[in-house]
Amino acid sequence: MARITAGITTSHIPAVGAALDNGKADEPYWQPVFAGYEFARAYERDTKPDVVILVYNDHASAFDMTFIPTFAIGCAESFPIADEGWGPRPVPEVQGHADLAWHIAQSCILDEFDMTIINAMAVDHGLTVPMSLMFGQVDAWPVKVVPIAVNVVTYPPPSGNRCWLLGEAIARAVASYPEDLNVQIWGTGGMSHQLQGPRAGLINKAWDTAFLDKLTADPEALRHMPHIDYLREAGSEGIELVMWLIMRGALGPEVRELHRHYHVPASNTAVGHIVLEPLP
Ligand code: DHB
Ligand code: FE
Repeated sequence: MARITAGITTSHIPAVGAALDNGKADEPYWQPVFAGYEFARAYERDTKPDVVILVYNDHASAFDMTFIPTFAIGCAESFPIADEGWGPRPVPEVQGHADLAWHIAQSCILDEFDMTIINAMAVDHGLTVPMSLMFGQVDAWPVKVVPIAVNVVTYPPPSGNRCWLLGEAIARAVASYPEDLNVQIWGTGGMSHQLQGPRAGLINKAWDTAFLDKLTADPEALRHMPHIDYLREAGSEGIELVMWLIMRGALGPEVRELHRHYHVPASNTAVGHIVLEPLP
């Protein structure tokens, strides 16, 4: 049987990808950002997941105002790297797991969770930066990926509780997949960031830290938190954090926190990263 063995969250800051791609990772500004990912890099090498269900948001790369799926699942065999304005990042194409993805789509939809099925989709920094953080600069990614793209760009994004329930539905889908697969689920985006307007650059470390604490130990407190709390406390792009609840909902009530990393500054956001394992 397939099983979800870990949940990982991380910021997906585009400048982090650019730092890696341009050989700046050892510079004093970036070194402490990347140092916080060494645990997860080793964890990935040791645990060798087969598939990552990668929850992220598209930033007007694959979707624009023409189509705005709330929850989209990538069912393709592979996903090209998006050109976000200065050419695609020099990273390998992302390989999908079409069979598992179609199984999750079927299971979730029949479980009354209507997903948009996407068979061709370029993936942007929201997906590729977390891949680079976990696997470094490689010729081919060592895992297959089932992308789950969530709308957090155009109002209204899904509620935290809806994200949590989707995580639970994804976990049921994985548990009913017959092949023996080691599956991880990642949530990306966040933490505090406000990219425009008079509050640009807002960082709220106390709130971010409390969010990380609750994600591990008291996720029920996050489930029903309204969007306005994310916006007020973590900035307008801090709403990306709602995607982390899909990861957390998929892990079940009790988890073990293996690692945490929080760092400022990194571009305009607070870097937040956590590694969790579900408890039986
Ligand atoms: C930044 C962070 C993001 O999550 C994003 O999508 C774009 C920019 C930033 O910090 O610059
Ligand atoms: Fe983003």
